[in-house]
Amino acid sequence: MTEYIFLDGEYIEADKAVIPVRTHAFLYGTSVFEGIRAYYNKEDSQLYIFRAKEHFERLLASAKVMWMKSKYSIDEYINITKELLKKCEYKTDVYIRPTLYNNSTNISPTLCDVKESLLIFTTPFGDYFDSERGLRLCVSSWRRTSDNAIPPRAKIGGAYANASLINTDAHKAGFDDAIVLSESGQVTEGSAMNFFMVTNGKLVTTNTTDDILIGVTRNTVIELAKDLGIPVEERAVDRTELYTADELFCCGTGAQIVPVESVDYRIIGDGKAGKVTKQIQSLYFDAVKGKISKYKEWCVPVYD
Ligand SMILES: Cc1ncc(COP(=O)(O)O)c(C=O)c1O
Repeated sequence: MTEYIFLDGEYIEADKAVIPVRTHAFLYGTSVFEGIRAYYNKEDSQLYIFRAKEHFERLLASAKVMWMKSKYSIDEYINITKELLKKCEYKTDVYIRPTLYNNSTNISPTLCDVKESLLIFTTPFGDYFDSERGLRLCVSSWRRTSDNAIPPRAKIGGAYANASLINTDAHKAGFDDAIVLSESGQVTEGSAMNFFMVTNGKLVTTNTTDDILIGVTRNTVIELAKDLGIPVEERAVDRTELYTADELFCCGTGAQIVPVESVDYRIIGDGKAGKVTKQIQSLYFDAVKGKISKYKEWCVPVYD
């Protein structure tokens, strides 16, 4: 199977793609990107791209922050992605990484007169975390960048240096990942995922204005919870609320829905996935594979 990438209007073999060394995005982190999953459903012999529209809408919103004017519409992005996946002939779960990047070669961080390129690559991708075993998290000593520094609402390449520091220190200290606080000390999200806690039968997650990336999975969980009759509250969250939550789980395209076993060594509930977490997890995994008619509109079929 040949792996193709899409670069500026052409589908080319992945190992033939080259980006010049003076590319602005490489030198200054001036790219915006998305992480999307496509799930293979064996019974349907079909590959479904999950919530493609919402991901590309967010890509365009990130692009606007970074003064990029994408030349493609949402439908064009989806069609290019479908074509690319078809060319790769995947019959497995796949990760899709569209990146709009500043390809100027001028020696200045300026975003005046940005010239941009579109790169999309794909790769077979299984579970990033074991969705059965709970994550052992710590609260990071690093802070999330704020909306007035590098806005977390936009998925900007260079901003992921923050996630790298958070994630690496957590790993070196023996944790699976970390929860990150904002400059003002409130909980934001994980290094590259959102979270929900369950308290008194309610799902609670941070506000969209609390320095987070507004996750497509987060929004999906909110819709699933509402359909399951589980109340959802979006509000500011304190660090110690995490310790005393009945259940806790993280969510993201990469992470999917993964329970949390402990935070800063405090065991959450009985340390195993709780009832609400399991309900959401099970519905989510069926929804992404196009198994539930109500949510089928979220799944874009790749093969004709
Ligand atoms: C910082 C950050 N927060 C949250 C998420 C989850 O977002 P989504 O559910 O759209 O993948 C991601 C993943 O891309 C992320 O990088």
